[in-house]
Amino acid sequence: MDDRSGWSHTDLSIHVIRVNSTMKRLFSSLLAVVLILSGCSTEVDNETLTGQQLYEAYCASCHKVNGTGSFLEAIPANRNTALSKKEIIALILGHDSRAEKMPDFNFLTADQAKRVAVYIKKEL
Ligand code: HEC
Repeated sequence: MDDRSGWSHTDLSIHVIRVNSTMKRLFSSLLAVVLILSGCSTEVDNETLTGQQLYEAYCASCHKVNGTGSFLEAIPANRNTALSKKEIIALILGHDSRAEKMPDFNFLTADQAKRVAVYIKKEL
């Protein structure tokens, strides 16, 4: 004991340990807050996705980014489709009984489906 630097050294390390655990607790609660906030903002982002972003997230895997579809996989082109905007919205939301292989996207809101339809008709 005596050959160490005595009280001050012990005091200092206890102090450091206390600060460390306080920092850890502070950090983990900060982390929790950040995670909660980022969870919320992801939801908000989904709401604000553009028609193009929604198309690329949910439709491009089959219909391709440029809307050409895939002849070999029997996936029709979206570009220049004869379907009207209303018909595309119905198809996306699962209200078109003619669709056999295309999945429903009934988790999208009517507004999001409209944005995708507008993108297909006007920009794709
Ligand atoms: C799993 C592949 C797949 C995905 C993903 C997909 N579709 Fe389709 N889509 C099809 C198939 C297959 C058809 C042909 C009809 C059928 O058999 O269901 C079709 C038909 C269509 C048509 C009609 C094209 C025409 O002129 O005949 C439109 C428009 C369309 N899809 C839009 C979309 C939109 C918008 C999305 C995304 C929200 C989407 N599709 C996602 C496979 C898909």
